[in-house]
Amino acid sequence: MRKKTYHIQTFGCQMNEHDSETLAGMLSLQGYEENSIRNQADVIIINTCSVREHADKRFFGTLGQLKRIKAENPEKIIALCGCMMQQKHIIQTILTKYPWVDLVFGTHNLHEFPELMSNLLNDRSRMVAVWGEASDIIEGLPVLRKYPFKAYVTIMYGCNNFCSYCIVPYTRGRERSRDPEEILKEVRALVSDGVKEITLLGQNVNSYFGKSGGMDFTDLIYALNEINGLERIRFMTSHPKDLSDRLIQAYVDCPKLCHHIHLPIQSGSTTVLKRMNRKYTKEYYLELIEKLRSLVPDIAITTDIIVGFPGETEEDFLETLDLVNKVKFDSAYTFLYSIRKGTPAEGYTDQVPETIKHERFNRLIEVVNQISAEKNRPMVGQTQLVLVEGKSKTNLKAYTGRTGGHKLVNFPSDIDCTGEIVSVLIKDGNTFSLAGEIVK
Ligand code: 5AD
Ligand code: SF4
Repeated sequence: MRKKTYHIQTFGCQMNEHDSETLAGMLSLQGYEENSIRNQADVIIINTCSVREHADKRFFGTLGQLKRIKAENPEKIIALCGCMMQQKHIIQTILTKYPWVDLVFGTHNLHEFPELMSNLLNDRSRMVAVWGEASDIIEGLPVLRKYPFKAYVTIMYGCNNFCSYCIVPYTRGRERSRDPEEILKEVRALVSDGVKEITLLGQNVNSYFGKSGGMDFTDLIYALNEINGLERIRFMTSHPKDLSDRLIQAYVDCPKLCHHIHLPIQSGSTTVLKRMNRKYTKEYYLELIEKLRSLVPDIAITTDIIVGFPGETEEDFLETLDLVNKVKFDSAYTFLYSIRKGTPAEGYTDQVPETIKHERFNRLIEVVNQISAEKNRPMVGQTQLVLVEGKSKTNLKAYTGRTGGHKLVNFPSDIDCTGEIVSVLIKDGNTFSLAGEIVK
């Protein structure tokens, strides 16, 4: 008999990617196989993101495309989950305008998915099951990981920061940290399965606090660093207000901690930062960068920047450009501010006109890219350790991987070295990647 298949389309951040790995794990326990062609799968799941308007628009576009697929194959199951499903107005829109959706669940009841699926299969009526409140953390859910040699490990859920532009505290709930013993147990098991690199995930990882062992985020890093066979530790995302001196010291003391930090600044203007409720100033951020670089000179620093937050003046924007020029980020994700329903900034009356936002955005990208290229160029001649992720998508003879600083490196190889950490002599560097040759 033909095995039933599933296809999961994931929008948004690593937390969502990891949730999709958990959904895949649950489906494979029930005998389903992955189908890379969405429209051919028996179960189509869309794991949504609500952080920016752009993701909303893409989601509704995708949902529109599924109408015909469902009409041609009414037996197919179309399921929606993720952050957007935690918003009441979205559920309302789906119920009224998208009758071809079979199942809707949220971020707090992912673990209920197998039960919801079996209920649906028994009684093919439409089902919406979304929890308003977060559940206790559910341990031990099956996970089907994308890579055998690197893995995401969620250490905490939710966010208490309430940055005034951000929807996450409303869709992912308050901060909840996993028990440190559970995390260490999971990582040991991953390592014995062949995992070399882990990325600790949380909306605000450095406010992690594991109650039972009284362990904070830095303690956890030190404990993970002791695990034999584990080679690399990464984490995302950190809030500048919680980046402690102890954590910076951990980069010096823990050889497995990769020399990279993703530290979102959002704006270089202290006035805008205050209105964003970020709880730090431009000067404080610059001091952190100085501390980081004085102890870990080769650390790669990446960031997120929002352009056109309500009330942002040309002077405020110049402060952002000034900060970018001072810090010289290895790379930066830049975003046009978009209004999120239910956030404090939704009500701010001084929204920046779209044309000005776009104009500033283009100026910012130009500076950011120029600096990325400047930072990559001096790497030519260095030998870097690269964890190989697989074949390059653009050049079939080349392999691709990441340095400790999370830079993408392409290099030719006759043998398949996927999953290995190899030494690569860097021969060329451009804005977004490096190129090199394996050193024997
Ligand atoms: N508009 C634009 N960008 C946003 N981000 C979060 N909310 C918004 C919004 N309303 C960006 C922030 C965050 C990243 C994940 O998304 O920069 O760090
Ligand atoms: Fe959103 Fe701020 Fe929490 Fe990050 S720290 S998830 S930007 S509220």
